[in-house]
Amino acid sequence: MSPILSTSELSRHFGGVAALNLVSVAIEDKQVRSIIGPNGAGKTTLINAITGRLPVTSGTVTYLGQDITSWPIHDRVKRGLCRTFQITSVFKGLTAFENVRIARQAHKGGSLRLFASRGSLKQVTEDTWAILERVGLTDKALAPCSSLAHGDQRVLEVAIALAGGPRVLMLDEPAAGMSPTETDQVAKLISDLGREMAVVLVEHDMEMVMSISDRITVLHQGGIIAEGTPAEISDNEQVKDAYLGSEKWAPLVALD
Ligand SMILES: Nc1ncnc2c1ncn2[C@@H]1O[C@H](COP(=O)(O)OP(=O)(O)OP(=O)(O)O)[C@@H](O)[C@H]1O
Ligand SMILES: [Mg+2]
Repeated sequence: MSPILSTSELSRHFGGVAALNLVSVAIEDKQVRSIIGPNGAGKTTLINAITGRLPVTSGTVTYLGQDITSWPIHDRVKRGLCRTFQITSVFKGLTAFENVRIARQAHKGGSLRLFASRGSLKQVTEDTWAILERVGLTDKALAPCSSLAHGDQRVLEVAIALAGGPRVLMLDEPAAGMSPTETDQVAKLISDLGREMAVVLVEHDMEMVMSISDRITVLHQGGIIAEGTPAEISDNEQVKDAYLGSEKWAPLVALD
């Protein structure tokens, strides 16, 4: 099966720093692919390059068989390349419902249409409730986001990304700052989503990564140092070395 998304020798330099160095990855549909690596490894830069937030220095991004390397962000989003951010970025003054509805409306192309038909507005509202239900936020949908727990705000970001109708969902540290219970819940959600679409997961919680990933790609200093199943990666000496001195490897070692 050909991958839904791939990069070929993708590089991004910042001055003298190669944040990404000749990265080639192939992402399969309906799988969870985790991208791990120590701080500064290039994980967020890879998502930014794939989603078009950052122009690349060299290399290509191929999505659904097309070279999209120079496509603007909105064209990529429209075709289903959706992402969340490492830093929580919901509209805090709006409710969860409003945040998702705006994203859904934008996806349906109705954001600038003053006279959207009643039918299409009804559909957007129905879709919004379905997405909120899917992520488990129905009960909190009408409260202002500023009153939501941090974990719920992170989940809301996943909901906003889902409103974009993703074929590939890219999540940048969705479990950051979550309690163990919240992490378990979001892990279950991500694992389920990975049966329906391609999920690219950047995450430091190794227990979560090991339990829900189909495959793992390990970045270190901008380059790929390993790729494989969770079992293969947890046994990889080069990966352990890359994480040496980082407390983030500890949970993984504990799995051995
Ligand atoms: N806009 C930028 N300008 C200059 N350097 C940058 C920029 N963005 C990232 N970098 C550098 O590129 C490298 C990779 O950063 P990146 O944010 O992709 O790492 P990361 O793997 O996501 O790390 P973390 O786990 O801490 O989020 C780092 O050395 C970082 O300092
Ligand atoms: Mg990052």
